Amino acid sequence: MTQGQELFGWKRIKGMRAQIGLVGLGVMGSNLALNIAEKGHAVAVFNRTTKRTGAFFENAGDLRERIVPCASLEEFVAQIAPPRPIILMVPAGEAVDQQIAQLRPLLSDGDIVIDAGNANFRDTVRRIAELDDTGLSFIGMGVSGGEDGARHGPSIMVGGTPEGYARIEPVLTSIAARYDDEPCAALVGPGGAGHFVKTVHNGIEYADMQMIAEIYGLLRDAAGMEAGAIGDLFARWNEGRLESYLVEITAEVLRTADPATGRPIVDLIVDSAGQKGTGRWAVIEAQMMGVPATAIEAAVAARVVSSLRSERARAAQAYPDRPARLDAARARAMKDDLEMALLAGKIAAYAQGFAVMDAASREFGWSVPLGTVARIWRAGCIIRSQFLGRIAEAYEGTDEPANLLLAPAFVEMMTRSAPALRRVVALAAETATPAPALSAALAYFDGWRQARGTANLIQGQRDFFGAHGFRRDDVEGEQHGPWAS
Ligand code: 6PG
Repeated sequence: MTQGQELFGWKRIKGMRAQIGLVGLGVMGSNLALNIAEKGHAVAVFNRTTKRTGAFFENAGDLRERIVPCASLEEFVAQIAPPRPIILMVPAGEAVDQQIAQLRPLLSDGDIVIDAGNANFRDTVRRIAELDDTGLSFIGMGVSGGEDGARHGPSIMVGGTPEGYARIEPVLTSIAARYDDEPCAALVGPGGAGHFVKTVHNGIEYADMQMIAEIYGLLRDAAGMEAGAIGDLFARWNEGRLESYLVEITAEVLRTADPATGRPIVDLIVDSAGQKGTGRWAVIEAQMMGVPATAIEAAVAARVVSSLRSERARAAQAYPDRPARLDAARARAMKDDLEMALLAGKIAAYAQGFAVMDAASREFGWSVPLGTVARIWRAGCIIRSQFLGRIAEAYEGTDEPANLLLAPAFVEMMTRSAPALRRVVALAAETATPAPALSAALAYFDGWRQARGTANLIQGQRDFFGAHGFRRDDVEGEQHGPWAS
């Protein structure tokens, strides 16, 4: 009898070995393991603390018959049929390296280690290189959908080789969310592509959430509406063109009362948002590749500003003057614009996110299928929405657009919605209501569609103080200005 059998009292089905292993029984890991077992796969599980493994197994109900709880890594590896696919669901960063180091001597040729955490893709690339020539392979897999997604169907973005993916595809497609009966799991490229795509997903998630929060801010502070009424508005929008998981949960959060006080819970939550790093990575990578992702950048910065709570309190005293609230007629007019403004902001933010993936795909030679990415984001993940179906169509049509905003369907949508965004951003400025992501989206759109911009002056300045040179429209070659020295 093995340790796990003694400890957890599981009964071995004669000759049964697990088809897959999972290390790390935190919230995401436990739910993913239950999902795997529910879809009919025998799964061996291991957690650093055996107590958690025991509690997980104890609570697994009928699914226990397909779960093999292990008390040591040796036992865990022995319980999986080779060649072994092993999912790591441990905190991103050092814990992943430590786990690989512990597993490595126990594994054999052909085994695949799959990191399903929110890793930085640069770490994934390094890990793949470190395991090169060992006979083992490494897959970086982005998983989105939070706790519920992991349990009932996440969106899964895999980075790896077609052979490696083929080995785990049956399990992944069975546990993934489905949209129109299509599984939301796909190979999105080699190496770090899976984690990169997940990072951009999170960057877009930040922008989407921030723009929704800005609309909430306008309704609360410029129009003076109560949380519940704002929630009702979001619920209504969720039935139209803004239909999405984030808008749906926004309505629910806004309409939920605190049981202790009866007040809207959102009014009692501290206005300071945390971040684990993926949004910031998306922005850093965009900057490194020279891709403007300003709406995502604004969203990341807004979280930072939100965290400066005591400084904000002092600033509110130092600058106490505030413009008056909108009168009823103007508040009503603004309300009518918000749905389209949010749509326009969202289009610009998604265009930026897809441009970042496009650039990375070229830079690293990944050939990321952008249409497929949009399709596997239609269900399961945090930014899921029908809108992603339109993006998939844009990238899967005859001409792949250089920028999503150039796809004919989006030109039409943006032409219709941008005027509302412009009016809303103007009102935000007038009422001193911060709307950094919406403003950034609008400024990006206006700058990007301006055939003659203002960088001619920047070039003049650069040449003036540093003799950097510039090109002229009317003369060939590098030029310098006739500045007085
Ligand atoms: C998902 C989410 C998830 C992420 C959280 C927290 O796709 O399921 O993106 O992976 O960890 O949203 O992110 P922050 O703590 O950075 O907000």
